[in-house]
Amino acid sequence: MKAAYVTAYGGPEKIVVGEWDKPTATAPDHVVIEVFAASLNPIDYKRNRGDMRIMKSETFPHRFGYDVSGIVAETGTGVTNFNVGDAVYARVDEEEAGTLAEYVLTTESKCAKKPSNMNHKEAAALPLAAMTALQAFERAGVKNNNFKKAFITGGAGGVGHYAIQITKNVFGIEEVATTVSEKKMDLIKSLGADVVIDYKKEKYVEKLSNYDFVFDTTGEVVSTFPIIRKGGHAISIATIPDGDETARLMPINWFVKSLLNVMSWNTRRLAKVANVNYQYIFLRASGAELERIRQWVEEGKIKSVIDSIYSLDQSAEAMQKIMDGHATGKIVVEVKA
Ligand SMILES: NC(=O)c1ccc[n+]([C@@H]2O[C@H](COP(=O)([O-])OP(=O)(O)OC[C@H]3O[C@@H](n4cnc5c(N)ncnc54)[C@H](OP(=O)(O)O)[C@@H]3O)[C@@H](O)[C@H]2O)c1
Repeated sequence: MKAAYVTAYGGPEKIVVGEWDKPTATAPDHVVIEVFAASLNPIDYKRNRGDMRIMKSETFPHRFGYDVSGIVAETGTGVTNFNVGDAVYARVDEEEAGTLAEYVLTTESKCAKKPSNMNHKEAAALPLAAMTALQAFERAGVKNNNFKKAFITGGAGGVGHYAIQITKNVFGIEEVATTVSEKKMDLIKSLGADVVIDYKKEKYVEKLSNYDFVFDTTGEVVSTFPIIRKGGHAISIATIPDGDETARLMPINWFVKSLLNVMSWNTRRLAKVANVNYQYIFLRASGAELERIRQWVEEGKIKSVIDSIYSLDQSAEAMQKIMDGHATGKIVVEVKA
């Protein structure tokens, strides 16, 4: 089969699209998906570049891409929820990365039925980004209508645009504020944001106050502490992770864990000073959560904004586009039309 991979750490110039062995279901819970579409996330270029080396080194050749939408091509003997021919979407596990390919191997617990009102490209955009937003809200304790005001940095990004819709349309938060650049303001308002701040021209600390919850997707969580009410919550997915959260996700040694705890110490200290409940979180892949997201999509509460679509042969261009950091919504790779 055809797949995109890299043979050494580096940027898009290291991406090769070539032949790779087609996976087969060898364990009872295996699901082989024929890929119709995949989407990219910043983690893909960060891993390819070696930014995560201190936590996890890669072996080469290394496949990348976590998000997929496609058709079940083969199942292991123990799979009960999916049949060959089902349309599914998934965020595959760390060691299964490689959705920019004609087939990808994952497990039953990572898959859910594809939303029936989305095509494969729209569905492939969802898993990692939408689940990250959902998990951030749940870790902060957001429940239906218990928080009145939420602020999301980077509302036009892959994660941010789903976060706005989930906050507003799923959790019913009254006031959702976000930061975007000027030309994206109308689109982000149309997704449900009540207060949209042009971060290049205005300072949100001068405009916002008394927020219950901040979701930081741009690495500026410390700057948001002054706008959070005493006892409010802040979750970041984009600052330096702490060692304990990292160790819950991947095996790291004592030294790396301690180093991350030291590097992230000042953020936790400043949160304490501001009386803010702060956490860094990493996404955990979950088919059960994708099933909840599927229902919200089918109820019309969440849609995917797609910045641009590339072919598998254009994987390097797609990676360059996400590395540029200005996408509105998601970058999708269409593998089978
Ligand atoms: N911890 C986890 O498990 C986890 C999970 C998912 C993502 N992440 C991380 O979260 C971050 C965001 O991911 P993503 O997929 O949303 O990225 P993305 O889609 O690549 O973000 C790009 C978007 O962010 C906007 N942006 C950049 N800087 C901004 C700022 N200072 N204020 C407001 N908007 C800004 C850009 O708009 P402009 O055109 O205005 O530049 C663009 O629309 C990445 O660092 C990613 O690695 C972590």
